[in-house]
Amino acid sequence: MPTFESLESVRAELPLLIWTPQSWAALAADNLGTFLADHAICEQQAAVFGLSLIGHYPDDADLVVEMGKLAAEEVSHLRRVASLLHRRGLAPSGKRGNPWVQALRKNMETNRSPMLKVDRLLVGALIEARSCERFTTLLEEITDRDPEVASLLADLGPAEKRHWQTFHRLAAREIDPERFAERWQRWLTIERDACAQGGVRPTVHG
Ligand SMILES: [Fe+2]
Ligand SMILES: [Fe+2]
Repeated sequence: MPTFESLESVRAELPLLIWTPQSWAALAADNLGTFLADHAICEQQAAVFGLSLIGHYPDDADLVVEMGKLAAEEVSHLRRVASLLHRRGLAPSGKRGNPWVQALRKNMETNRSPMLKVDRLLVGALIEARSCERFTTLLEEITDRDPEVASLLADLGPAEKRHWQTFHRLAAREIDPERFAERWQRWLTIERDACAQGGVRPTVHG
């Protein structure tokens, strides 16, 4: 049986404004193959996103170090989920729409510096924070039903928690604290509204 922090204490340290309904966890638990296939793609995209930030900001040494570490971790997450899919004979997923991420992306600053960089990093923070919350929510649901998946999620939740904090810290260096707090609040509200539309598909952010 994996040991893990309770959902309540994980949520207490997340910045998010609303919580995933328990009905989503029941849906994902009943459709674990769909969840895991989507999860593998999320990890792949998280690694690519980290590397893409290094491509955008090669002169930012702090960011290059942190995103290099993050991308390596996301690749290790991808390998664990992909090997689980393979061992269980579950079909992997290809590229698919992620309405929650799309809702975030359409609110990003398109080209004005420094806000584009802040937004890219804050969207990264939200993706990590919500993933952490979803993994922990599902973990509580499946601990008895599927200890192997539970132990995977128990390892990944804390990593995603560190990741949202890294993205948030990197973003906060870019603008003055007051403007930053305002921008973060704006993003938390956008995420709340996008998340409120979800909870109805057995995917990581569905
Ligand atoms: Fe990950
Ligand atoms: Fe992550």
